[in-house]
Amino acid sequence: MADRYLHLTGTAPGRFLTRRLGLPQPVPLRRWTLETPHLDGPLLHLTAGASAVPGAAEVLAGAGLPLVERTDRPAAIVLDATGVATAAGLGDVHAALHPVVRSLAPGGRIVVLGTAPSPDDHHQAAAQQALEGFVRSLGKEIGRGSTVQLVRIPVGGTAQAAGSTLRFLLSPRSAYVSGQVIELTTAASDPATPDPAASAPVTDPAAPLAGRTALVTGAARGIGAAVASVLARDGARVIALDVPQAREDLERTADRLGATALPLDITAPDAADRIAAAAPDGLGVLVHNAGITRDRRLANMPADRWASVVDVNLDSVLRTTDELLKAGAITRGGRIVATASIAGIAGNNGQTNYAASKAGIIGLVRSPGPRAAAEHGVTVNAVAPGFIETKMTAAVPFLIREAGRRMNSLSQGGLPVDVAEAVAWFAQPASSAVNGQVLRVCGQSLLGA
Ligand SMILES: NC(=O)c1ccc[n+]([C@@H]2O[C@H](COP(=O)([O-])OP(=O)(O)OC[C@H]3O[C@@H](n4cnc5c(N)ncnc54)[C@H](O)[C@@H]3O)[C@@H](O)[C@H]2O)c1
Repeated sequence: MADRYLHLTGTAPGRFLTRRLGLPQPVPLRRWTLETPHLDGPLLHLTAGASAVPGAAEVLAGAGLPLVERTDRPAAIVLDATGVATAAGLGDVHAALHPVVRSLAPGGRIVVLGTAPSPDDHHQAAAQQALEGFVRSLGKEIGRGSTVQLVRIPVGGTAQAAGSTLRFLLSPRSAYVSGQVIELTTAASDPATPDPAASAPVTDPAAPLAGRTALVTGAARGIGAAVASVLARDGARVIALDVPQAREDLERTADRLGATALPLDITAPDAADRIAAAAPDGLGVLVHNAGITRDRRLANMPADRWASVVDVNLDSVLRTTDELLKAGAITRGGRIVATASIAGIAGNNGQTNYAASKAGIIGLVRSPGPRAAAEHGVTVNAVAPGFIETKMTAAVPFLIREAGRRMNSLSQGGLPVDVAEAVAWFAQPASSAVNGQVLRVCGQSLLGA
């Protein structure tokens, strides 16, 4: 559904009027296109004190932007704050960013590199945790469509682990992601038999998923269709799954992408068997996107509305994940991406069932169980969309819809492609250090902030 307010503030009279009234000023976000795959300008690399991780400059040189140490108009700024280990050291963060923050180009990116707070050094832990509050606050004040994130590199690790994450965050693909903390791990792999896909250099950066089969549930429309499209763009053979009642839309989406349509209700008892049969060479990427809402306050909610939401959004995800892993249907170095929601973080009036199911997804992703069970470099992550413009949110009453759109740092709703780009980043072979993460794609929504 078109965002008329965003259109209005893009006109001179509309901007004049809304500014006078003190209303939000959303800036149209620049998203990835084949013609404009990179941000428009240089990447400024700064360090607060001394860096604690080797290799940052080499990794940043591969981010697709000219790397500079001084410029008047950076498109992106990366501040290496990995060496900040005391409260006084936080002064170096201020000293580095204060003089340049105003010069960041509209739609720019700031990424702060940190390390995990140490369990043994409370000064380091305090200083590194302080970066989280800093980043979340800067994300709220920076404006003009710019975003701010914190990427934590594991203690003793190198910046190499952050390669795919920095390429994503420093590109138009992450337009609707802000105020996020991404905690990298040492790459997931079975040391006895290292994951060849994760360690092999990506030969074609335009098709990082070439040779992999990706299955997307709920792919007939909305976010799922966008995920299928972006994974196909990245070279995957896509299997698009949706309920048999959505067959027409499903086949249209699949035809457009050269994908295979799999009409199947994900709650069917034989769903995992049928998915495995549809991908005889195994799945490199499994995206649990299908989801439903059946909103009512708890006092008015019959058991069937509760059960159907938990079954589609959570139980079927747990069941099919377990069964596919057990059957060895997820290939070595595979990627599992589930779909949570900011409602699962903040809670929502009338959505006890939905929020419970989406919080359950966060529990699944954070639990070491499925990751340990995989033991073959399989990663398990989740996206948590905020307000995304789809049929699901078009059905929300007008005032609540407007509030949902504006109550975030970017003052607008996201698009299905924003979630899809995040899924594609999780799915990359080069993202093996990204595991157990929940990435909010919500423009830094105030809900659950
Ligand atoms: N749109 C948002 O703002 C938003 C916000 C947070 C989370 N999400 C989540 O993102 C995902 C996609 O949302 P959307 O807005 O694109 O929704 P949508 O309703 O437009 O699409 C969901 C798709 O899932 C399919 N589906 C439902 N039950 C299924 C089943 N049992 N088996 C197979 N397929 C099934 C539907 O047929 C539909 O095609 C959902 O998990 C949703 O909860 C959406």
